[in-house]
Amino acid sequence: MKIIDLRSDTITLPTEKMRQAMYEAELGDDVYGEDPTVNKLEQLAASMLKKEAALFTSSGTMSNLLAVLTHTRPGDEIILGSEAHMFWYEVGGAAALGGVIMRTVANDEYGQMDFGAVEEAIRSENIHYPKTTLLCLENTHNRCGGTILTPDYTSTIAGLAHEHDLRVHLDGARIFNAAIALDIPASELVKPVDSVCFCLSKGLSAPVGSLLCGTEEFVEKARRWRKMVGGGMRQAGVIAAAGIVALQEMISRLADDHANAKRLVYGLSHIPGITVWPDRTQTNIVMFEPPTDVSINEFIQQLDLRGVKCGYRGGLKFRAVAHRMVTGADIDEALERIDQLVRELS
Ligand SMILES: Cc1ncc(COP(=O)(O)O)c(C=O)c1O
Repeated sequence: MKIIDLRSDTITLPTEKMRQAMYEAELGDDVYGEDPTVNKLEQLAASMLKKEAALFTSSGTMSNLLAVLTHTRPGDEIILGSEAHMFWYEVGGAAALGGVIMRTVANDEYGQMDFGAVEEAIRSENIHYPKTTLLCLENTHNRCGGTILTPDYTSTIAGLAHEHDLRVHLDGARIFNAAIALDIPASELVKPVDSVCFCLSKGLSAPVGSLLCGTEEFVEKARRWRKMVGGGMRQAGVIAAAGIVALQEMISRLADDHANAKRLVYGLSHIPGITVWPDRTQTNIVMFEPPTDVSINEFIQQLDLRGVKCGYRGGLKFRAVAHRMVTGADIDEALERIDQLVRELS
């Protein structure tokens, strides 16, 4: 039986071309700034996002942490969405290592925060209060099912933050999914923010890495923080080489993943009792709930036994992610197996 693994786009393996590029990569010591392949990747990333500079890091988590460390001081307060990846899944690094308070503002089901609620959460000048110094956004929004923040929304909320003298960081782990779905350059989505990171090792299929982009001054500070947390990698060109292929060749194909996610959500919507939100399937992530009358434990167990791997998000919520290792035929097969399972359990 073929396993259809829809847990995450992070399971994508490097392409042949990436492996070849890794083998042939020109290398140097990146801590001395002498790895030509890392330098090329950083320049490419900065130019694609129209930011002054970029920094290669080991992961999205590290990029987000470095952004907090660079933009804030211990004791500051930062505002982020109640469903933000930085809040849920990054081990509280901003608080533990950055010493900041994480103040959440409710995310709606599209990953947006209400402008008024954000404004209300920004601290005024008062001797009793910590300083609010950073607003964090996420695009696409993972826990909200890959939903997109438009340039208009980003520009309005960033404008509001800037008016109050806050910096704005965008966790753009999947920013190219948003760009492809809207058919606009990613640079337009990140124009209003002070810093942005994106991942190479999700839908873009590179094995490792993330880029943190911003002004030259910001990136130089972040580089020192990266060294402090042990993220200075030496001949990192070996992995950066795959990242270059990812940026040059793997972005436009994200449209295939989006089509497969739509195929999946459409199919699920026709299985009696399954709940889906097709208008929120805007990129490569599908959230769904099995019928309320089936035992959730049995559903989880049986899905696994039938070779359909999905992420379980608690309650009734499941997440399925389309990516390069899953074809349209695989999606149809997964739908058939889920349909059969629901019929048997209901
Ligand atoms: C929105 C978002 N931000 C950050 C990350 C963290 O990336 P990494 O797994 O490379 O640390 C993820 C990972 O899934 C993510 O979905």
